[in-house]
Amino acid sequence: MHFKQTAPVLGSLALASLVAAAPMEKRGSISYGDRTDHIKAYQDSQPAASSGYPAASSSTGSWGYGSSSAASNGYYAPTSTSASWAPSSTSSASWSSGSAGANLGDNPFKFPLANGFPNVQNPSSALTQIEDAAHGTLPNGAPPPSINPDDLLSQRLIAFNELWEVAFFTELLANVTNNVAGYQFQDQNQRQSVITALTAIQAQEELHALNANGVLNHFNAGPIQPCTYVAPVSDFPSAIALAAKFTDVVLGTLGDVIVKLGLNGDAKLARGVVGVVGQEGEQNGYYRELLGEIPSAAPFLTASTREFAFSALNQDFVVAGSCPNINTINLPIFGVLNLETPTVAAQDQQLTFSFDAAGQYSKWTSWQGLNLVYINQQNTPVAIPISGAQVSGSQVTFSANFPFTENLMFGLTIAVVTNGAGPFADVDAVAAATLFGPALIEVQ
Ligand SMILES: *[C@@H]1O[C@H](CO)[C@@H](O)[C@H](O)[C@H]1NC(C)=O
Repeated sequence: MHFKQTAPVLGSLALASLVAAAPMEKRGSISYGDRTDHIKAYQDSQPAASSGYPAASSSTGSWGYGSSSAASNGYYAPTSTSASWAPSSTSSASWSSGSAGANLGDNPFKFPLANGFPNVQNPSSALTQIEDAAHGTLPNGAPPPSINPDDLLSQRLIAFNELWEVAFFTELLANVTNNVAGYQFQDQNQRQSVITALTAIQAQEELHALNANGVLNHFNAGPIQPCTYVAPVSDFPSAIALAAKFTDVVLGTLGDVIVKLGLNGDAKLARGVVGVVGQEGEQNGYYRELLGEIPSAAPFLTASTREFAFSALNQDFVVAGSCPNINTINLPIFGVLNLETPTVAAQDQQLTFSFDAAGQYSKWTSWQGLNLVYINQQNTPVAIPISGAQVSGSQVTFSANFPFTENLMFGLTIAVVTNGAGPFADVDAVAAATLFGPALIEVQ
């Protein structure tokens, strides 16, 4: 929905220079073996490597950026074994919504990066290179002497999320740098400024992840190890729209983390988390600008919870079963809630959702008593009783009003299905009653 919507918008706005997909190989349809044709096409299309980044070279393997000179750019070292992953029909699509679906046939992204990330010592020359690229350093103050176990859980979730973000931005930067089909620019100045921005962002995300895992290590509780990931996009505008969406979820979730730090007596850790909230907000303003949107979506961020973020990451990006120590993250993964409506405009409208009431959820084919709950900005959640649902096998499909006008639901709206109508005082109360979700709605 959202991503289909962005293409025409972008055509007339900031990304007018993005050319149509060139007849190059798509990453998902090839194996990581012989890249000669791809490299030749790349070289033919590139009279000059304006970026100063290592161009694909026939002397390196796979993607052509496994050379040591690429290490400081954080380019990952693809492995030839990754193609054995079989797409799973149970994966879902709340980031890209409904039938748009994840691009499940693609080769998953695998760590480590060529610089060893996430295994980077402090201090080390690898860390220094990341810090140079990130325009700054890891926090160097001493952590507090103790931490509440619940806040360790938050740090685990943050590390889990930041590892995904590193994977995403590493792959995105590589796609742009290597002029992958769908990631090409006519305007070389714009291409260069995107590369400059993404280079810093990719390294900054590495530091966010290393910082969270550093806190865990300090308290003998880490680190969170990376999974393999699939980004459900294959063109630049969709990738940027996806980045804006998952960053919105992260921003709201870090609010949840900060509240818990206060409640658990760990407020001294809050300043560092706020330092990431604002930082990711700066990133998001840039993504929105690229998309032709105003930089700040709404007056207040949309609240989220750890549970919603963990569910969305696992439902949409993480290859199931690929995470070595996900079992140490004691958060639920809810059932998938699909948004079936392809585009959501800034107006009142009926939205269609579906969920699969199979397995552990089988009793919910009788959907009576379930509610759809919307969370937007810092407002009290809106609960709407589900009515008139259609059931086909285990698939439950229903429509609900999206009360845009009354609530000015700009930016991110998190939609979930709860058992019970509330009233829900806040997002925590919603998460405690959630069965399916989140479906993520963005109104520009
Ligand atoms: C990079 O491009 C490949 C090939 O189109 C695609 O499968 C992958 O999802 C892209 N990654 C990102 C982050 O855009």
